[in-house]
Amino acid sequence: MHLTTALTLALLFVSPVLGLPSTFASRAVKRGRPVLPSEVADKFKSSGTPTSGAASSHPTSFSSNWAGVVLPTPPAGENFTAVTGTFTVPTLAPSAYAATSIWVGIDGWNTDFNSDAQGLFQAGIDCWMENGKLSFDTWYEWVPDGSYNFTGFDISAGDVLTFSLVATSTTEGTINVENETTGQKISHVLDAPPIAHSQLALQSADWIMEDFFWYGQVPLADFGTIRFTDASAKTTGGKTVGLTDATIVDLVLDGSVSKTEVTVDSDSSATITYVSAFEF
Ligand SMILES: *[C@@H]1O[C@H](CO)[C@@H](O)[C@H](O)[C@H]1NC(C)=O
Ligand SMILES: *[C@@H]1O[C@H](CO)[C@@H](O)[C@H](O)[C@H]1NC(C)=O
Ligand SMILES: *[C@@H]1O[C@H](CO)[C@@H](O)[C@H](O)[C@H]1NC(C)=O
Repeated sequence: MHLTTALTLALLFVSPVLGLPSTFASRAVKRGRPVLPSEVADKFKSSGTPTSGAASSHPTSFSSNWAGVVLPTPPAGENFTAVTGTFTVPTLAPSAYAATSIWVGIDGWNTDFNSDAQGLFQAGIDCWMENGKLSFDTWYEWVPDGSYNFTGFDISAGDVLTFSLVATSTTEGTINVENETTGQKISHVLDAPPIAHSQLALQSADWIMEDFFWYGQVPLADFGTIRFTDASAKTTGGKTVGLTDATIVDLVLDGSVSKTEVTVDSDSSATITYVSAFEF
């Protein structure tokens, strides 16, 4: 897996979808930072679209691959050190080929491309729908590297999973995943990939549904609703920060179609709802 920068993502976003291999074997999934040309964001914002921003007191941003909530900066003088969130593995509406990814992470929002700290530490699940058949992977990833599957942790729709990530330094982190129903847990220690600019800035915490790239941007699955609960981040000063001041991120496809509505429901929960299509 090679560099995933906003630029390559932007290029992938406009390039035609390549032919898909006949099976989902050896998926080399690229997840990454949010992408959206600012002029598109401005156009969308000024159009006063009835996305969650309209009824929300939360700042709203737009992305062509992310939807969800982010804490865009830590409290003054502190860094983020941990992020946690719980969600239920969704069922996807039947289709020939569609997917979605759900994850929690540290960094990736407002990445400073002039700094060494361009890493994004994340873990979550992919949900795939192929010819009406649903499948899942559970994975971890440290951008700019690609993702790796957890093995021996087979999930199904309806499983309630908690992902907890701790950045023990700017170059190492621990991932804990727990099945809230069975108590089954897996844990993994991950180092920043030996690639330039992979350190963490520790400046944002993210709870995201991503329309990721795999041979082009995957057609977004109808995931119904995804609700993050027990969501919080921790800081170097030992503070626990909830979602009260979170920024909402709505997914805008092709620069014109909002595919999500996001609400912050409480200090510890947010909901991402799939909307079939809204043209303006
Ligand atoms: C990840 O898991 C999926 C589903 O189990 C599998 O198809 C894919 O090959 C795995 N990817 C890697 C990189 O091992
Ligand atoms: C999680 O719990 C559910 C419900 O008991 C079970 O069916 C599933 O296999 C468990 N998954 C994992 C990965 O432990
Ligand atoms: C925050 O992290 C940066 C590295 O990105 C480090 O230089 C700085 O000292 C850290 N600040 C605190 C308060 O830990």
